[in-house]
Amino acid sequence: MSGATTQTETVGIILAAGHGRRMRSRTPKPLHLAAGKELIRYPVELLAQCGVVRIVVVASPDNRDSLVAALGDTVACAIQPAAKGTADAVACALAALDSVPDTVVVLAADTPLVRGESLRRLMEEHNTDAAGRCMTVLSAQDTFAPDLGNIQRAASGDTHSVGPVSAIIEAADRPGATAGPAEVNTGVYCFDGNWLAAAISEVPLSPSGERYLTELARMAADAGQIVAAAPIALPDEAMGVNDRLQLSAVETVLRDRINCHWMRQGVTIIDSATTYIDSEVTIAPDTVILPNTMLAGRTVIGQDCQIGPNSVVRDSTIADRCRIVASVIEGATIHSDVDIGPYSHLRPDAIIETGVHLGNYVEVKNSRIGAGVAAGHFCYLGDSDVGTNVNIGAGTITCNYDGIDKHQTTIGDGAFIGSDTMLIAPVNVGPGAATGAGSVVNRDVPPSGRVAGVPARLLAPKPTQ
Ligand code: UD1
Ligand code: CA
Repeated sequence: MSGATTQTETVGIILAAGHGRRMRSRTPKPLHLAAGKELIRYPVELLAQCGVVRIVVVASPDNRDSLVAALGDTVACAIQPAAKGTADAVACALAALDSVPDTVVVLAADTPLVRGESLRRLMEEHNTDAAGRCMTVLSAQDTFAPDLGNIQRAASGDTHSVGPVSAIIEAADRPGATAGPAEVNTGVYCFDGNWLAAAISEVPLSPSGERYLTELARMAADAGQIVAAAPIALPDEAMGVNDRLQLSAVETVLRDRINCHWMRQGVTIIDSATTYIDSEVTIAPDTVILPNTMLAGRTVIGQDCQIGPNSVVRDSTIADRCRIVASVIEGATIHSDVDIGPYSHLRPDAIIETGVHLGNYVEVKNSRIGAGVAAGHFCYLGDSDVGTNVNIGAGTITCNYDGIDKHQTTIGDGAFIGSDTMLIAPVNVGPGAATGAGSVVNRDVPPSGRVAGVPARLLAPKPTQ
């Protein structure tokens, strides 16, 4: 009895071992960011979205470690010892597999705009023929892209339909050709695994000395096989990133897609042209994003917030009904009903509890600011724990650094910190305590104690009426 299963196995291969010389960068091309995400992660996520779980990334000996660091163990990694062309890269991936898969999907690391809908269409088209296809390519019709491979078709013998693909001609091999719109190769393909495994070692050297994956189209057609092309869903999906200009063009498309997505989800974006939202940000409905605002990294924004104008929020969580004006928020957690700015700066591990008001020029780092605190005007709160309903006067500074070490400041619930107070850490100000304007507090203040002066001294308790 054979234990053969009818389930077909699909492996995704992502080519990322090229030199990427046109980027003129020390950073490997697959690790350049588009909408805040490494280029290599786009095809990885696209394959996963289309149900392809076995993924092999072809890396170079130079970029392998950084690719593995970026992708973790979600993918397998094959090495292409020298960049000898896209066919050689695929051969390296196949050699790293322990068996030949039924279907192989190949993508490049530098085409982040290909959408799930198009890849699914390609896979469906590849499987339409019961007799089995050896190769199907995702193409962009009527596209002006002089640096992409051009798809050539055989005559169909029928004026109403196009013939099958007969070859893919690379830009380098069509010198002097009039550059005009053409059907171009997106660099995304579906192959029959057995056919690919046999044909890949037969790909001839091109005049440039590389082995082109695209030669497989000519080889299949010459052998009498039908090579089909499935068209992409949107014209911009074929855009690749070979240099910084194309990176910028791709970034513009991605940003526009992201902004449209959030507007459809109920977010108001006043000026899409100056709103930059990274791909992993999430925003709840009825939040308004004002002009010149960047929401970066893994930021999460709640509902009914107003963010901007002129704000940057990076890797931060902001709960509902917050207002952030002209401020920079990095690595912070902000609870609901907080208002911040203009010109404040929240740095990593700032935790701002509900109902806090941080006005202009307030800097907070590695501190918990308790519910209902008001710090309306220029001050620095670092390495501190501020209780609830504390009033922080203008010019207050937690002097947390003695030149060698950082120290902690604790301020109890309901304390009143007078303007221009210097809190020389480590120091504790008890609940309900008060400091006079201009105090330099270098010793702990007891609960409900009142201090003033330089250095601050304990005053007599306030007479009770
Ligand atoms: C390639 C296609 C072209 C297609 C275009 C789509 C070939 C020969 N040409 O051209 O028809 O229109 O993509 O964007 O395939 N790579 C390796 N090892 C190598 C060479 C390249 O892994 O030895 C990788 C690169 O890192 C890149 C991808 O393969 O991710 C494509 O290589 P690239 O040099 O960018 O090819 P294009 O000239 O854009
Ligand atoms: Ca390319």
